[in-house]
Formats: sequence, structure tokens, C-alpha cells
Amino acid sequence: MVNRIVLNETSYFGAGSREKLGEELKQRNYRNVLLVTDFNLIQNNVTNMVANVLEDNGIIFSAFYDIKPNPTVENVKSGLEAAKDNNIDAIVAVGGGSVIDTAKAISIIMTNPEFDDVISLNGVANTKNKGLPLFALPTTAGTAAEVTINYVITDEDAKRKMVCVDVHDIPVCSIIDPDLMIGMPQFLAATTGMDALTHAMEGYITKAAWLIPDMFHLNAMALIYKYLEKAANEKDKEAVEKMAYAQYIAGMGFSNVGLGIVHSMAHSLGAFFDTPHGLANAILLPHVMRFNGKACPKLFRNMANSFNLDIDGLDDREVIEAIVSAIEELQEQLNIPRTLREVGIPRESLYDLACHALEDVCTPGNPIDVTVDDLAYLYEEAY
Ligand SMILES: NC(=O)c1ccc[n+]([C@@H]2O[C@H](COP(=O)([O-])OP(=O)(O)OC[C@H]3O[C@@H](n4cnc5c(N)ncnc54)[C@H](O)[C@@H]3O)[C@@H](O)[C@H]2O)c1
Ligand SMILES: [Fe+2]
Repeated sequence: MVNRIVLNETSYFGAGSREKLGEELKQRNYRNVLLVTDFNLIQNNVTNMVANVLEDNGIIFSAFYDIKPNPTVENVKSGLEAAKDNNIDAIVAVGGGSVIDTAKAISIIMTNPEFDDVISLNGVANTKNKGLPLFALPTTAGTAAEVTINYVITDEDAKRKMVCVDVHDIPVCSIIDPDLMIGMPQFLAATTGMDALTHAMEGYITKAAWLIPDMFHLNAMALIYKYLEKAANEKDKEAVEKMAYAQYIAGMGFSNVGLGIVHSMAHSLGAFFDTPHGLANAILLPHVMRFNGKACPKLFRNMANSFNLDIDGLDDREVIEAIVSAIEELQEQLNIPRTLREVGIPRESLYDLACHALEDVCTPGNPIDVTVDDLAYLYEEAY
């Protein structure tokens, strides 16, 4: 059996590590960059924390910020125009998964222009060239888009989130600076943290799982279970820092093995109803974990140990329930809605959502092979 691991080239970690951006750009002789971010981050003075570093180092930059959460094909196309207009050497992305994913798509099309319709990048695209050098500074904890070989773009016409998998998109440098995350509003920190937990759990039980990603996933889930509540609710500095690392560690894992149907089902909700990604995962996670538990009870025991739950004397079914309860309690503490009904999803859409989720790139990785009826049942459970 041969397994592959792909990670980004260089990473920095720690409060203030954004200062390293200047020297990393200069030593590669990149003097003119496109700063990809979003309007909300500019308003919240997060983008500025990185723009100041560019200014202090004499790097010329123009900003592109027309990116919505669950970014669209149109967002990528406008970013591409901005990149072409400015004769850039590299891209600096400052934002959550939506910003970094858009930057990845721009970077790929700049060097593989035959994919400029964007939609032909869906799935595993046969690009020939590495993307334009990308420097990624995440502001959520989070998607781990700074270390993954994936990016997710919404094709609004087809009502689908395209999961694009391409080793050519990986950033040359990622800077994981918790100072960029500490200002997240509670709900954003809570839901993006649940996304990271979902990556760790789905990545651990996915069909392609193996030793090295397992190690990342178990450690990531231990950290997230321990620190997410404090990071989101109290903005405790140490907890925010641990979440920054934990989401990256989960990314080192899942990017190399894939995910499962929590993500497939969340992608449909994002494509149809623009549901924030982390929120969709959080609502679905306990139901899908209960469903998947019977396929891999031994792995559920390991996850319970990572969570530090007391499972002595419990049978397999009880261990699965202990995990499900732990997730539900965490959601309760984080004040995250528990049902699709609460977030305004119409019940009559559940079957259509299931049909789309069945086609998602993440579905084959689920430990149990599913039918459209299974997915519809799980949406009903979460309703
Ligand atoms: N590439 C991958 O491997 C990968 C993995 C999982 C998810 N995703 C994708 O990433 C996207 C979700 O990204 P996300 O959850 O990071 O959120 P996001 O990037 O969509 O951001 C959500 C909102 O939070 C705001 N925000 C971000 N950081 C902030 C901060 N520090 N302070 C204040 N506001 C802040 C943004 O401006 C935006 O309005 C989805 O499209 C999802 O499908 C990608
Ligand atoms: Fe995710």
C-alpha cells in the first residue's frame, strides 16, 4: 500500500508571526502582490494588520475584496481580472476559508488559463502548472485552507459547491497568527471551530485513513474538544492559540485522506441556502456520527479517549452515544442552533439536498456507503 502526504512548503506559527511575511516575500524577490481579502475583514481592521507588514517591507500591493462567504464562480472571475490588471508576482490571502479558497482558484487559473471558466476545475482537475505563489494567513480556526490541497467554490447556476482538489494550489507559505483570529465574533469562532472538529472526526474515520493522518486527527480533536469553548466564549489567549494550531493539524490530516458525508451534506446546504459552512457541519455532525458509529466502533473508542471521556465498562453502542452527547453538549455551551428548522431550511427541500449530497466529492470517503434515502433520513434527523 502506498500513501501520499502533501503539505504546504513553509509555515510559521504564533502570535506576531505575520511579521515573517515581509522577509518571505523579499527573499523570493516578490515585490508586487495582490492582497486577497474580504470587505468585512477590512472594516474589522484585520486586513490592516497584514497590509501594515507589506507597507513596512516596501511591498507594492493592490487589494481585491469582492468575496462573499461561500465564494462564487463570479468572485473568482473578478479576482482574476484584478490579478491580471496588476502584473503581480504573488498572491497574499488574508481571511477565512472563503478568501483563501478564492485566492487558490485565482492562483491556479493565472498559470493554467485554459481553466478560466472556473467550473472545469470541479473535482480533480488536470492542471499542468503550479499556481501563482500563494501566501496564506487564515483569520478563522477553521478550514485549514492554508495547508489543504482543496478549495471550494459555489457554482450558483448548478446549485452546487465545487470541491476542487489540486496539489498545484498549495500555498508556498502559510502564517498561522492567532492575533488575526482573536477578534472573531463568538458565533464565528464557535462554528468555524466545529468545522475543524468535523475535519478531525471525519478524517479519522474516512475510508482512506492511515497511520500518519490518524495521528494528526486524534491530536487535533483532543485540542479542539479541550479548547474550543474557552476560545470562542472567553477569547482566552492560550485557547485561541491552541485552536489556531489544532485546525491546522486537522488540515494536515484530512487534506491527505478526504472527509465524509457531514461535509457532503453541508456543501448542499451551502449551495442551496448559503448556510455558513461551520454551522451546517455543527448541526449535522452528531447525527452522522451516530449513523457512522456502527461501521467503526474501535475508532469511536479512540475518539472517546481523545476527548478524554470516561468510557470504562461501556459497550460499543454506549461509546458512540457518549461521543454524540459530548458533541451535543459542546454545541450547547457554544450556543449553536441544533436543528435545520431553527436555521430556516424548508423541510420540503430535504430530498433535493440529499440528491445533491450524494454526488459530492466527499461522499465516497464515508465509512458507510450511503444511498439517497440514507442522506434524506439524516437530514430529517437533523431537522
Ligand atoms: N479549502 C478547504 O480545505 C476548506 C475546508 C473547509 C471549508 N472550506 C470552505 O471555506 C469556506 C468557509 O470559510 P470560513 O468558515 O473560514 O469562513 P468565511 O471565510 O466564509 O468567513 C465568514 C465570515 O467571517 C468573517 N471573518 C473571518 N475572519 C474574521 C475575523 N478574524 N474577525 C471578524 N470576522 C471575520 C468574514 O469576513 C466573513 O464575513 C466555505 O466556503 C467552505 O466550504 C474550505
Ligand atoms: Fe469543512
